[in-house]
Amino acid sequence: MNRSPFSVRTFSRYALLCLVNVVLLTAFTFAQDFKKQVIYQIVTDRFVNGDTSNDNPAQSAGLFDATKTNWRLYWGGDLAGIQQKLSYLQGLGVTAVWISPPVDNLNLNIPDSGGNPTSSYHGYGARDFKRIEEHFGSAANDWTAFSNLTTAAHAAGIKVIVDFAPNHSNPDNAGEFGSLYDNGTFVAACNNDPGGIFHHNPDISGSGFQDRYQVEYYTLEGLCDLNQENSTVDAYLKAAIQQLQSHGADAFRIDAVKHVTWGWEYSMSNAAFTSGPSFFFGEWYQNWGDALYHDSYKFANKSGISVLDFNVNQAVRDVFASNNNFSELDNVVNSENSNFTWQNDLVTFVDSHDVPRLLSVNNNTNRLIEAQAYVLAGRGIPVVYYGDEQYLHNDTNGGGDPYNRNAMTSFLTTTTLYQVINKLGGLRGGSNDALGYGSYQQRWMNNDVYIFERKFFNDVVLVAINKNDSTTYPISGLNTALPAANYSDYLSGLMSGPSITVMTGSGGNNPVSTFTMPAHSVAVWQFTSTASTPQVGSIGPTLGQSGVKVTVAGKGFGTSTGTVLVGTTAATINSWSSTSVTFTVPNITNGIYNVTLKNSGGTAANTIQFTVLTAKLIPVTFTVNNATPTNPGDYIFLTGSTVELGNWGTTWDTAIGPMLDPNYPNWFLNVSAPAGAAIQFKFIKIASDGTVTWENGSNHTYTVPTSGVGFVNVNWQY
Ligand code: NOJ
Ligand code: NOJ
Repeated sequence: MNRSPFSVRTFSRYALLCLVNVVLLTAFTFAQDFKKQVIYQIVTDRFVNGDTSNDNPAQSAGLFDATKTNWRLYWGGDLAGIQQKLSYLQGLGVTAVWISPPVDNLNLNIPDSGGNPTSSYHGYGARDFKRIEEHFGSAANDWTAFSNLTTAAHAAGIKVIVDFAPNHSNPDNAGEFGSLYDNGTFVAACNNDPGGIFHHNPDISGSGFQDRYQVEYYTLEGLCDLNQENSTVDAYLKAAIQQLQSHGADAFRIDAVKHVTWGWEYSMSNAAFTSGPSFFFGEWYQNWGDALYHDSYKFANKSGISVLDFNVNQAVRDVFASNNNFSELDNVVNSENSNFTWQNDLVTFVDSHDVPRLLSVNNNTNRLIEAQAYVLAGRGIPVVYYGDEQYLHNDTNGGGDPYNRNAMTSFLTTTTLYQVINKLGGLRGGSNDALGYGSYQQRWMNNDVYIFERKFFNDVVLVAINKNDSTTYPISGLNTALPAANYSDYLSGLMSGPSITVMTGSGGNNPVSTFTMPAHSVAVWQFTSTASTPQVGSIGPTLGQSGVKVTVAGKGFGTSTGTVLVGTTAATINSWSSTSVTFTVPNITNGIYNVTLKNSGGTAANTIQFTVLTAKLIPVTFTVNNATPTNPGDYIFLTGSTVELGNWGTTWDTAIGPMLDPNYPNWFLNVSAPAGAAIQFKFIKIASDGTVTWENGSNHTYTVPTSGVGFVNVNWQY
């Protein structure tokens, strides 16, 4: 039987149905649950010029190049331009746009080494986080264009993700020397900083990128480095995020998340979740095997901030552009899945503004479609980089920055990739929960063919990809959890996918009759179940204090309101639909709990983990002087009396740390601690073999401030 409900011929009706569905769902679906979304990443300046009146604003005159020949000047794209293309994006099947940083950026030209003018068209050189860039909105730096975009996007069922760069302002040695403004009022600059708004350390270089202290406290690419432990900076950046939320930002991509003080970042996402529903993912750049890999998943597991999946990105590009064997991708995904708690929240991508487009690496359109199909159906929240669906690329100097930030020149809805994205976006966002919430299992693999299965209870999606340019492969011995039946390709043959016959087997392993995968083919077979009991696939945010609103999503919840238990305490229900329930975190003891959703008849779903915080989070910097001697590979950690402080945990993953030792044998760490709480804590050494050494004496005590930031400075107790 053909389980795919729509064919290519009904494409426009299908798009319309999607739109209707999304609009109806937005009444119930809170922004926290992005697992069923498809994200479209836009460099705003390079997308569409929707308002020519902001092309060359007076306060930053001369940074606009109407000829689009200087790739480092503004080219005219703006927020109004994105708004004009919402129906194109709906038809593409994406449900969220990630826009480059929209806030007011550096106004001056900083010539490059060849004397050519450059600008901050990309948005990563902020001067005022509380105003909108004049090239993207209006010369008044007001919020009108931003609010217009979020309002129109929401009406179209599209969420808006703001790229937010809290690590830095703008370049420290030229132009405005890092000048930072608070809604128009000068705060400080790298060369005028009596209040300690910025760090004044050297650039990170070489092995410094593996040194936690340098990574967090040194300067990234000459960009004036904000000091988030300063109470003015802490309040300013959190207010800026909340201002974006109040103007309709649904979620945030945090730039250079690895380079911002990690403890502060936990408090930043917590501040946003306290204000309203949101979703966070950070740019934790890494190569596979990176020395800070463990830190990346500890951070993603505990901070409330997911991360961009650079490991899968690298493997996808190796496999599809450079023709490496599929085993590389299989190894990376399976390793990550054993380390990341919230693996379906990892944000996956093929291309970005920081690497050459895949077509610049290998000008093979089939490979781009296969790579994007893998990401769309694979584990994690998929991103489509703007223009990939039009096969956009410019290969100058290998196609890297800035030649990967092309002007969008065509908006065809007929490309194969446009249609593949539409199909797979519809599958992810529809009633089959396997792509959004499901497990991931490799089912069959050789160097050129990869077959994987996503499964959420009885929802199953089986995906096969043959990336070979000329070889057809017979596939025998494949097993699947799809129920016995005939299945035609959900992509309707867009990428030459065959039909398959599944026979009855046992133990979730049903044999598939031998079939062939043609050269350059992608096939998707799916089975959508009807849930008779509640099935939970998502919770977001994953941590919060009493009063924070949390969304649990899945299927089969029923239309009448049931209950949600946090541990054994019933939570207040704010909204209830058969797929999404929002509850308020109850006032209970801090700790890690199982959340149980029960339908109105009392039938319980599978449990899902949630961390109840003691109170909202305050960034506190702890210093312990003259700590016990350590050998290389040993580290000092903090552990203490609340869940924020590790609940006296003594392992690398449960204690707080590792702490930083630029002034060895003194160690320090910025930590998120519960506001107003009287905490007890101690420092421990975790040796490289895991052996734990406690400091002596009674516990240290401290009352965390109720607002602002805190500092603690004690001596190791011998
Ligand atoms: C990473 C961004 O993705 C990149 O484009 C930017 O230049 C740096 N962070 C600095 O903000
Ligand atoms: C946990 C805490 O009670 C702390 O005070 C104590 O030092 C360690 N356990 C070691 O016994």
